Amino acid sequence: PWLRMDVQDGLLFDGVSLAAIAQGVGTPCWVTGADTLLRRVRTLQAAMGQVGVPVAIHFAMKSNDHLAVLALMRGAGVGMDVVSGGELARALHAGIDSAGIVFSGVGKTDAELDAALRAGIGQINVESAEELHRLSARATTLGLTAPVSLRVNPDVESGTHAKIATGHAETKFGVAHDDAAALYAQGTRLPGLRMDGLAVHIGSQIGVPAPFRDAYRRVAALVGDIRAAGHAVRRVDCGGGLGIAYGDDASLAGVPAAWAGAIATTLGGLDLALSIEPGRWLAAPAGLLLSRVIQTKAAPTPFVVLDAAMNDLARPALYDAFHAVVPVAPQRRAGRVMHLVGPVCETGDILAADRRMPEMRAGELVAILDTGAYGAVMSSTYNARPFAAQVMIGGGRWSVIRPRQPVEALWAGESVPGWLVRA
Ligand code: LLP
Repeated sequence: PWLRMDVQDGLLFDGVSLAAIAQGVGTPCWVTGADTLLRRVRTLQAAMGQVGVPVAIHFAMKSNDHLAVLALMRGAGVGMDVVSGGELARALHAGIDSAGIVFSGVGKTDAELDAALRAGIGQINVESAEELHRLSARATTLGLTAPVSLRVNPDVESGTHAKIATGHAETKFGVAHDDAAALYAQGTRLPGLRMDGLAVHIGSQIGVPAPFRDAYRRVAALVGDIRAAGHAVRRVDCGGGLGIAYGDDASLAGVPAAWAGAIATTLGGLDLALSIEPGRWLAAPAGLLLSRVIQTKAAPTPFVVLDAAMNDLARPALYDAFHAVVPVAPQRRAGRVMHLVGPVCETGDILAADRRMPEMRAGELVAILDTGAYGAVMSSTYNARPFAAQVMIGGGRWSVIRPRQPVEALWAGESVPGWLVRA
């Protein structure tokens, strides 16, 4: 329903013509569908309703931190999972209630911890013994109390791409499962800390419930151990990581319910305040990248050179990620296999390899799908390519939510030392 081909107007996203947007703001252009985004929030909230106890949602804003997205989340009653002082500042600027902010991350500076404490955020996820002590010292210095959840590394295999798996023991994330109970007990004796609970996040783009269930089972056992030692455990943060179907893998259709089931059966009956930190599942399908063919190039497998590149969408180059690419014009001719590439001077600047597409001509528009998460946020200006424009659509309208960066902005902060260039 969110993408539809109209014989006259071509591809429509939430009912809005993508050709009209390209005409208005040019390409490349990120398009976020507010209606789709809100629908996904509601779908996930409804799925979590099946857990039987309330499950708070904190959006992993690293996946898409645009102010308009944060405003939509705020309106839908969703809090934020932040991973830096910058994200914390952005969330507060967007008017997110500080009680609904969770701070995750393996390396928070003193300044970042201080900012979190001063803002009075609801939860700080601590990832090491060293950080626990440092947070205690910062809170004591400021005369404040830190609401702590200990992030446990459950040592499970999440079965996802190696660069986005975080829940096995060799990764840098979290406290080793076997050390967690003792460290938690230690935390209850340190000044300035309130030990509230546990957090776990095992990786991203996980499409089956088994790894979640394995991790939550281990966390549930820890809750039991810590409570048996006489300490309160009030909450568990179940992390993010829910996968989406890039392309048409129908097996991922029921994943929100399966995730809720994994939470319900392991942690649902333990008298805990529960929360999740999804990013990708909410945001990815609510965004696409609109691009125009600069030119085609004949080769055994022909190249179609787009005006979007790896500096805009890094995922294919970084993770060999698959994103479906759909022509915007109403279609027509039979297809052949081609490579869709960007103009950046790197062999790895391939947005879509070996795709069967209708024949492409210079000037044609394509939509690169499911780029609403880890898309614009991971852009760079490599090759002096300004940040692309951003548009939000909703209720049949569209608005520019970030103009294309002017090229002069690329060097605006730079200066040449006077001693370098002599007259
Ligand atoms: N919570 C924590 C502590 C995280 O580290 C992450 C993602 C999330 C939640 C949200 O995970 P999600 O629900 O979005 O899977 N750039 C990569 C993904 C990196 C994910 C990093 N952590 C990509 O484009 O695939």
